[in-house]
Amino acid sequence: MMQAQDVQTASSPAAPLLAVRDVSVVFGGIIALNGVSFDMQHGQILGLIGPNGAGKTTLFNCLSRLYQPSAGDILMEGTSILSRPPHRIAEIGIGRTFQNVALFANLSVLDNVRIGTHARTHSNIVSDSLRLPRVRRSESEIDRRVHEVLGYLDLEDVAHVMVSGLPFGTQKRVELARALATDPKILLLDEPAGGLNHEEVHVLGDLIRRIRDERKMTVLLVEHHMGLVMSIADHVVALNFGRKLSEGTPAQVQSDPDVIKAYLGSKHQ
Ligand SMILES: Nc1ncnc2c1ncn2[C@@H]1O[C@H](COP(=O)(O)OP(=O)(O)O)[C@@H](O)[C@H]1O
Ligand SMILES: [Mg+2]
Repeated sequence: MMQAQDVQTASSPAAPLLAVRDVSVVFGGIIALNGVSFDMQHGQILGLIGPNGAGKTTLFNCLSRLYQPSAGDILMEGTSILSRPPHRIAEIGIGRTFQNVALFANLSVLDNVRIGTHARTHSNIVSDSLRLPRVRRSESEIDRRVHEVLGYLDLEDVAHVMVSGLPFGTQKRVELARALATDPKILLLDEPAGGLNHEEVHVLGDLIRRIRDERKMTVLLVEHHMGLVMSIADHVVALNFGRKLSEGTPAQVQSDPDVIKAYLGSKHQ
């Protein structure tokens, strides 16, 4: 006889970490997203591709809660995240970087990364003002975590350098460090390869894979250019004109005639 556990394993695939369900976003008259659905599984690197204007950033901003979908739902471990404001997504394990680096230019690398961790610190005003031991412990815990992440991303040498003085590629790494310092379950990356040269893109690809393997994270990688996505993603979702155009392994999506047509037809490609 089958055990209850076996029945469950046999009848339902692993529950997704994140589920995007029929999400639509309308800006004025423009339908930026039109009924998009897909799942992200634990430990996956999911590549979200599509020509300019396809709706990638709009979807990304729904996930990071900057935009509210006009319809549909987004579930993290089975629970809707749509009532959550952007400053409260780190608590449930969603970390993000921005397409155009969004750091405090006049603060040091260390301070920028430290700011990221505050989203996940549950100290309250009373215990803060009394400097109770719990808070002190949490401060030293933050220090430990920040330095661990700076070391991991090879940023210790520039920890006290002001961000504005750093090359763009290094600034992007600082953003990544800030997201990692919150110890997210899902890391959302919007066009991390943008503005990087060929060698830097290669290094970034290795790094994203290492982060997934060593830090056990699930990664959503939004990219306009296919190269990086095709080399590191396990699963790819292609958007075009706000709709899901194709979904599957990188090889499947890359050879899908609809995807090829969409990219050839895009003047920005
Ligand atoms: N804040 C906004 N207000 C109005 N229209 C927007 C806004 N953001 C995006 N759009 C429109 O939604 C569509 C999808 O854009 P976007 O998500 O930025 O695409 P992608 O990131 O794939 O290039 C485009 O037609 C774009 O012009
Ligand atoms: Mg975009």
